[in-house]
Amino acid sequence: MSVGSSTLDTHHQMIFDCLNALHPLLNQPGRDEDVRAVLAKLEDFVLVHFSEEEQAMKKAGYPHWKAHKELHDRMYEKVFNLKADVEHGRALDAVHLFEMVNDWLVQHIMGEDKKYMPFLANGQAAPSGVWKRGNGREF
Ligand SMILES: [Fe+2]
Ligand SMILES: [Fe+2]
Repeated sequence: MSVGSSTLDTHHQMIFDCLNALHPLLNQPGRDEDVRAVLAKLEDFVLVHFSEEEQAMKKAGYPHWKAHKELHDRMYEKVFNLKADVEHGRALDAVHLFEMVNDWLVQHIMGEDKKYMPFLANGQAAPSGVWKRGNGREF
């Protein structure tokens, strides 16, 4: 499951944590607050992780970093559209969120993220940041 960077691996772990947090909320009415808390975590993830991963890929000389960044941009948009929906009073469906996060895991982290791993493995590209919450505190 490692992509060859402990910082990026720690970020990816956040996605697993989101899935684990969502699982008991599926088809459970009245848990909107908890579902929204997972969305807030995802927001932190897309803000911090995507930019760090993009920097690491560039630094490592991964040739397909731009295409990878486009995939990130699309996911970023999805999360922020969901956030906007919630802010406009639309209910957030735990099943929808779970499926979205699950797709990221299977298709993106296990597929796309694995592709830059050999480039990171040459040791030039360890990202320097640590995972922080939106308020600047570390997890
Ligand atoms: Fe990633
Ligand atoms: Fe990625």
